[in-house]
Amino acid sequence: MQTVAVIGTQWGDEGKGKIVDLLATDADLVVRFQGGNNAAHTLVVDGEKFILRMVPAGALHPGKICVIGNGMVIDPFALIEELERLKAHSHPLTPDRLKISCDAHLVMPYHRLIDRAREARLGARKVGTTGFGIGPAYEDKMARSGLRFADLAKPAAFRTRLEYNLKEKNLYLKNVLKAKPVNAKSLMAQIGPMRRRLTSYIADTAGFVAEAVAAGRRVLFEGAHGTMLDIDHGTYPFVTSSNCVASAVFSGGGLPPGKLDAVLGVAKAYATRVGGGPFPTEIKSALGDRLREEGDEFGSATGRPRRIGWYDAVLARYAARLNGMWGLALTKLDVLTGVNPLRICYAYQAGGRRYDEMPPGRAALEKVRPLYEELPGWDQDISGARSLADLPENARRYLDRIVELGGTKLSMVGVGAGREAIIVLENPFLS
Ligand code: GDP
Ligand code: IMO
Ligand code: MG
Repeated sequence: MQTVAVIGTQWGDEGKGKIVDLLATDADLVVRFQGGNNAAHTLVVDGEKFILRMVPAGALHPGKICVIGNGMVIDPFALIEELERLKAHSHPLTPDRLKISCDAHLVMPYHRLIDRAREARLGARKVGTTGFGIGPAYEDKMARSGLRFADLAKPAAFRTRLEYNLKEKNLYLKNVLKAKPVNAKSLMAQIGPMRRRLTSYIADTAGFVAEAVAAGRRVLFEGAHGTMLDIDHGTYPFVTSSNCVASAVFSGGGLPPGKLDAVLGVAKAYATRVGGGPFPTEIKSALGDRLREEGDEFGSATGRPRRIGWYDAVLARYAARLNGMWGLALTKLDVLTGVNPLRICYAYQAGGRRYDEMPPGRAALEKVRPLYEELPGWDQDISGARSLADLPENARRYLDRIVELGGTKLSMVGVGAGREAIIVLENPFLS
C-alpha cells in the first residue's frame, strides 16, 4: 500500500512514535497533521532515547522527508529547541528534509499562559492539560485571529497582528484570569531571531503531499494523542483541542479524500491516561503502581504519572469503527509479564443494562462498570520474541482474545522499547 496512517486508539502514548519510526524505513514522506508539542513520541534507537514533539518520527531516517502539516499548531521557540537537539545528535533537518505548512498556526507565549491560568482557575475540575497552550492556539485558529507559519515571512504584518492580539490577551490575562500579562517588548525582541531561523522551512505542504501521492511516493501519516482524546469523539471535555482520528489526515495533512490506503491503529496491551476524565478500566490497586514502574508510565511531555488500566475491548471496537482500522499494532506486551491473572474488559454495565458498544454521551463513561474476563498470564521474558511462535502459549491466547473481541487483525506486537523489539506480522507498505 502507498499511504498509511498510524493512529492512537486509546488516550495517547500508545507507542505511535516507535511504530512510525519502524514504518518510516519503507516511506518516502512522514507527515504530522494535527496537535503540537503536547505530543511526545519516544523512539529508542541503539539504546539511545529520542523524544519528538512536533517533528515527525521519520527524523532519524536520513533521506526521508518530514512534513509538519497545516492542521498542526507550532510553538516556534520549542521547535527551534527540538531542531537543535536533533542536530546535536547528528540528525540535522535542513529545509530540503523538513517542510512546514504555511497554514499551520503558531502557539505564542500568551497561549501557554492562558492555558495554565485557566487550569489553575478550574481547580479540581481542570482538564489536566499539558500546559503548552494548545487549546488557546486552536481557539484563535477557529476565531480567525491566529498567526500562521507563513506570517513569519511578513515581519511588518506579523508585528501588527501580534500587537493587536497581545492587547486583547493581556487584558484577558490580567482582568479575567488574574494572571501576569505578557511583556510585549521582550516578546518582540525574541521574534526576530526566531523568524530568521524558521522562515526557510515554509512550504505549501498540502500541495507537496498531494503531488507526492500522485507521483506514486509512499506517505506515512503520524497521528498524535489518541481517539479518546479527539475533540469530537473523545471523552469531552477531557480531550485535546484537535481531531485525532484518521479523518484528520485529509483536513490537517492535505491528503485528498479517498487516497488513504490503510489505518494502523496503535494500542497498548493495557491502557493508560494522563490528566483528568473518565477511565472505566482504571486499576486503583498496587498492581497499577507496579505496571506504572515496569512500563515506565510517566508522561514524556510533562513527567506526570500516567493512570493505568486493563485493556478495554469496548474502546478498541469504537476506535476500529471511527478510524476504519486496517490493522492493530499492540505495544508493551512485555510489560504484562508476571501479571496473573490478566483481565480484558469485554463490555460495560450501567443502570442494569449491558453495553457492548460505547454508550452515547461520553459522560456516561463515568458511571459504567467494566465487565471483565480473566486470562492466565505468563512469567517468561518475551523481549527477544520476533515471531508469534516465540511467545508463551498464554501470551498468544491473550493476543487471540484481543483480536476476537476487537475485530481488527493484528499487524505488530511490541515486546520492548527498542526499535528492534517488535514482532511484525504484516507491514502495510509491503502488502
Ligand atoms: P506515543 O506518544 O504514542 O508515541 O507513545 P510515548 O512515546 O509517549 O509512550 C510510549 C512509551 O512506551 C515510550 O517510552 C516507548 O519507548 C515505550 N514503548 C513503545 N513500545 C513499547 C513496547 O512494546 N514495550 C515497551 N516496554 N515499551 C515500549
Ligand atoms: P501523544 O501524541 C497523552 C492529554 C493531556 C490532557 C488532554 C488535554 O504523546 O500520545 P492538551 O495539552 O492537549 O490541551 O491536554 O490531553 N494529552 C495527551 N495525553 N499523550 C498525548 O500525546 C497527549 N496530548 C494531550 O494529558 O489530558
Ligand atoms: Mg506520547
